[in-house]
This record gives sequence, structure tokens and C-alpha cells, in this order.
Amino acid sequence: MTQDELKQAVAKAAIEYVVPGAIIGVGTGSTANYFIDELGRIKDRIPGAVASSEATAKRLAGHGIKVLDLNDVSDIPVYVDGADEIDAGLAMIKGGGGALTREKIVAAVARKFVCIADASKLVQTMGKFPLPVEVIPMARAHVARELAKLGGEPVLRPGFTTDNGNLILDVKGLSITDPQALETRINAIVGVVTNGLFALRGADVALLAGTEGVKTLKRA
Ligand code: A5P
Repeated sequence: MTQDELKQAVAKAAIEYVVPGAIIGVGTGSTANYFIDELGRIKDRIPGAVASSEATAKRLAGHGIKVLDLNDVSDIPVYVDGADEIDAGLAMIKGGGGALTREKIVAAVARKFVCIADASKLVQTMGKFPLPVEVIPMARAHVARELAKLGGEPVLRPGFTTDNGNLILDVKGLSITDPQALETRINAIVGVVTNGLFALRGADVALLAGTEGVKTLKRA
């Protein structure tokens, strides 16, 4: 099976987690896109969705799914999104697509986070995938210096502006042994909007597609 076929298989499996009659939170990225396509097939079962990016909102609308403003929604039973890396404790690195801040906001409101990914995203120690950090433009150089003090090698994502009008620093060279502590530490740097570690609020369920099928991991 190709990686795309695995992403498609896991997106299909996630439909089981959609709560009929309830708003669903929807992530961003290629795996989330397959999920949106599957959601399109069962759109009559849900009143609408909250999107974690402009791209996701556009794709949802393209399938005729109503997109709601998060400020008008008080309860999201389930949020479905991909990950760039996930560890056995269901902490993740996200933000390869640059939507980390909105993803983290929607995930914070959701009661259950369902991570969908192909099994290659499961790692023992996160950090091989450069950690995305969203920064306010005027703080870019300051934040980069602070990240370097933490042992990382920040690189400005070229030609990229987030949906919030900010920049992304991709931090290479981190070996993330304590994801919660690092998430807190980086978010404390003035000028950081948020970082792509989802450890304080990790996934509750991970659906990981491999050649033998979709495996389910649950938060202990
Ligand atoms: C978007 O900002 C990201 O957090 C994505 O959810 C993550 O990068 C996974 O993307 P793919 O499904 O495209 O690998």
C-alpha cells in the first residue's frame, strides 16, 4: 500500500468516531483532507464542522459541509487531525502544514482528540521532524536566539505566512525527551504564539494505518 492509501484507510476508520448530530472539529493536512472527503459522504449526519485552517474550511465547504465559527460553538465532542510525529504516550509534533495554532485552539475545546496517521509517524523520541513554532513577525530574531539557547537550530520557513499573519520557525536538532516541559518552555518565550508540540493536550486515541490494517492506541 502507498502512503496515500494508508492515509485514506485511516481517514475512513476515523468516521466511526464522528458523533451523529454533533459538531465535529477538523484538522489540517493531507490525512485530514482524506478525512474531509469521507465526511462529505456522511454529511447529513452532522450539523456542521469547525475548521482548523482556511484550507480546511474551504475543503469542507466544497463538500457542502457547514463551517461554524469556533466562537459560536461551546461543545465539540471529537476533533480529528493528523500528526507529523506521535509517540507512545500520544504526544505529537504538528504544524508541518503551518496550522498549529488554530489546531491547538480547536483541540483545546474538543473533548476527544482522534489522531489519524500512517504508522510511519509513530516514533520513540520526537524531534527528527523539525518542530514548528509560530512567531509574531517582529519577534522572529529574538525567538530564534532563545530557541538556539535551548539547543535547537531554528530555520525560518521561507515565503510562508500563517492564517494568523505570522511566521513559522522550524526547529531542527531537538531530541524531545520531555515533551510537556519543552512545550511549556517554548510557549513562555515572548513573541511565540504557540509551538507544534501537542503534549499538554495530546491525542486521546491514535489510529495508525500500516500494511496489516489500522491499529488503535489509546491514552493510558
Ligand atoms: C498541519 O498544520 C499539521 O499539523 C498536520 O496535521 C500534520 O502536519 C500532518 O499532516 P499530513 O497529514 O499531511 O502528514
